[in-house]
Amino acid sequence: MLIVSAPTKIILFGEHAVVYGYPAIAGALDIYVYTKIKKITEPTMIVRSREYNLEWKNGEPIPAELRPIIEGIVFTIERDFDINIRRAGIYIEIFSDAPPACGLGTSAAISVAFTTALLKHFDIRFDKDLVNKYAYEAEKISHGKPSGIDNTISVYGGLLKYSRGPPARIEQLKHISDLNMILVDTQIPKNTKKAVMMVSELKNKYRLLDDIMNTIGKLTEEAWKELKKGPNASLQRIGELMNINHGLLSAIGVSSGKIEEIVYFLRNNGALGSKLTGAGIGGFVLGIVDEKNMHKIRKLLTQKGCRYFISRINREGIQLLSELTE
Ligand code: MEV
Repeated sequence: MLIVSAPTKIILFGEHAVVYGYPAIAGALDIYVYTKIKKITEPTMIVRSREYNLEWKNGEPIPAELRPIIEGIVFTIERDFDINIRRAGIYIEIFSDAPPACGLGTSAAISVAFTTALLKHFDIRFDKDLVNKYAYEAEKISHGKPSGIDNTISVYGGLLKYSRGPPARIEQLKHISDLNMILVDTQIPKNTKKAVMMVSELKNKYRLLDDIMNTIGKLTEEAWKELKKGPNASLQRIGELMNINHGLLSAIGVSSGKIEEIVYFLRNNGALGSKLTGAGIGGFVLGIVDEKNMHKIRKLLTQKGCRYFISRINREGIQLLSELTE
């Protein structure tokens, strides 16, 4: 039996603009998605998702939630390597620290962990670039026009500056400043495909959105310069740039009343910066908070009954957790 973990992610700067070729900065979280794979005697394939509470067996209609990994990953690996995964006798279970479709890149992390488990189980080749390639195939089925940033950060971990390609340009930071991050759940499910489409429609209507995207790109470069200072980076500067980025995301229509409420709650209680992260409309709000204010903010959020996560940047990306023979 093999268990693989892949980290979820936050986008610190540049979401949406990244779809149009501008750079974005993503960080891997220490909140994970897991895939467990084991042999079974029946010559079939069974996939169980704990979060979606469903199980699929080869031959049955594929549920919408599993289409990205079955059609994007299983079908493609079968074709590329001329193997029959669906009749190989395997049971795969997917589970997660975070809820599905919450805006933390869980779907991409599932694709990454799932691909890794298959490549390892069938002894194909464990190569991060190959994992990334198949995980991107699944993302294309989920979102239509993904930039590829979500799967890439989950594969490599750490803090990345990413520009979509082809070929994609990826820069990874070796020395990461300690960012105390708080992620507050809006409890509104996010829909990346819809949010990306809304932005695209607005952009077709108003050419000036090109200027906003360009400004987001410049701001992202400015933030990267600061983050590259590692432990000497000014968290105050990073926070201010996050606030500017949030204003621009709001201008392109991907904020919401609930997001604004949380963004200002965090700022009014001492966060150094706060913004929506990922596709927007729902999902999570990200705040950078120093130790001094973290305790107070946590207490207030708990009193308000809000769900939140505290996380730092995870440096690892994919991890093979156990290889047990049963
Ligand atoms: C989703 O995490 C981020 C978006 O920029 C979409 C994408 O990059 O594919 C909104």
